[in-house]
Amino acid sequence: MSTITKDIVEHEAPDLFIGGEWKAPHSGRMIASIDPSTEKVWAHVAEADETDVDRAVGAARAALRGPWTQKVTASQRGAMLSKLAELLRRDAKALAMLESRDNGKPLRETLGEVQRAADWLTFFAGAADKINGDQIPFRPDALAYTRREPVGVVGAILPWNSPVSLYSWKLGPALAAGNTVVLKPAEQTPVSALALGKLIEEAGFPAGVVNIVPGFGPVAGAALVAHPGVDKISFTGEHRTAQEIMRGASVNLKRCSFECGGKSPHILFADADLDKALVVATHGAFRSTGQSCSLGSRLFAQRSIYDVVVERMAERARRIRVGMPLDANTHIGPQSSAEQLAKTNAYIALGKEQGARLVAGGGRPAGLERGYFVEPTVFADVDNRSRLAQEEVFGPVLAIIPFETEEEVIALANDVPYGLVAGLWTQDIGRAHRVAARIDAGLVSINTYRPVHWMLPYGGYKMSGLGRENGLAALDEYTEIKTVVVELATNSPADPFAD
Ligand code: NAI
Ligand code: MG
Repeated sequence: MSTITKDIVEHEAPDLFIGGEWKAPHSGRMIASIDPSTEKVWAHVAEADETDVDRAVGAARAALRGPWTQKVTASQRGAMLSKLAELLRRDAKALAMLESRDNGKPLRETLGEVQRAADWLTFFAGAADKINGDQIPFRPDALAYTRREPVGVVGAILPWNSPVSLYSWKLGPALAAGNTVVLKPAEQTPVSALALGKLIEEAGFPAGVVNIVPGFGPVAGAALVAHPGVDKISFTGEHRTAQEIMRGASVNLKRCSFECGGKSPHILFADADLDKALVVATHGAFRSTGQSCSLGSRLFAQRSIYDVVVERMAERARRIRVGMPLDANTHIGPQSSAEQLAKTNAYIALGKEQGARLVAGGGRPAGLERGYFVEPTVFADVDNRSRLAQEEVFGPVLAIIPFETEEEVIALANDVPYGLVAGLWTQDIGRAHRVAARIDAGLVSINTYRPVHWMLPYGGYKMSGLGRENGLAALDEYTEIKTVVVELATNSPADPFAD
């Protein structure tokens, strides 16, 4: 067991990370974190309230005025991010273990996630000293240029479904661009954020550049949103929370970027390479126990292949191994919380009530009496206007929907409030690009699904979000553009107020 694991599991509950120090919470309260595979409390961490958030924002503001922006060079910021990536790789196993216990994802998945988080940080480490402004040919006798300055103090509010990945999505571009950060992990999965705090300390970031304050949404989250010392909120979670954040952030016109989930269409035209498509569609629909914003949760199959698709997807869903997160055989673990399991079960009940045809799953997997487990579930003949097709379940529940024509499936695909990702399978190159152009989504994939990668801009249309993460586009969300104009002419300016 590595020291970070020991600190968290065996010793006192880890404190809040504020201004480079580990501080006891103002209220003295602790968050009890539950292992979703056993339903038992397995760790305690400090719980931040408004006072702690205020201290963290103060530390982040002080760091912003200090050496971080005045002395540390852009290349040095990059080097610190590289170092952090290296430490994640060094401690990958311990971190993955923490995350699997806290969130319930299988170890092989969390291990991959930690490695990828390191890759994400490495990408932004390399970008840190390439954030250039422009020189603009405004007038021959003037010098005009832009500076890309950090937005300031970033409040990062994280969900519970993929904590480690999302720390890197937020910290990478925020720190590369020279911001300071107050990070609030989700109350359901606060543990890995504090382990990350230990590594941030070790990587040598100046005190206050990153502060970590686990706490509840309506308390610590809302305090961060309301705080006049926070310049930007970067949020991932439910769109209703994003709407509330947008209202709260209006106090000082905080910049906001949101990533809010979806109900993504995955379209199989009759000429698709079905063997490949069904492998990918199964992963796309059930990965991470369905707790993914980019889930291909609406599978559209063209009429002539519809029955085959239904039969084969049901069969593939039944073969998925649901099990304990630390078991190497497990494909998917439990849902991350009792609330999420209840939500998933409610949608399964709704699907049955509203006349969809249940062809796989729908219950608790045999042999798993405790834990927030649910079977991979497939409904066929789903009405695209039904709630099962319109609302994000965030569980392993797939809706299969038939269609006849290209025109029809574009209309159906777009007929949801969301627009995060979409996938389509066809051998017809013209159709592939026609459909890609007309689908309302921030990421469309052809003959593959959901290629989420540090190099590729990612974000939503419509209710799926605001702004982009990943790729160099992410840096725009973390910089202000300042235009500077210098007069070079030697003659006196014309005086509009002359006598
Ligand atoms: P949520 O949006 O309530 O929570 C996400 C984060 O926001 C947490 O850190 C939470 O503490 C914080 N938060 C909650 N209320 C806040 C407020 N008033 N001000 C500031 N911060 C606040 O999501 P929740 O309730 O955990 O999950 C509900 C559903 O949301 C899921 O079933 C799923 O459909 C969707 N969701 C989508 C995610 C995505 O990746 N896009 C991630 C998590 C949830
Ligand atoms: Mg909520």
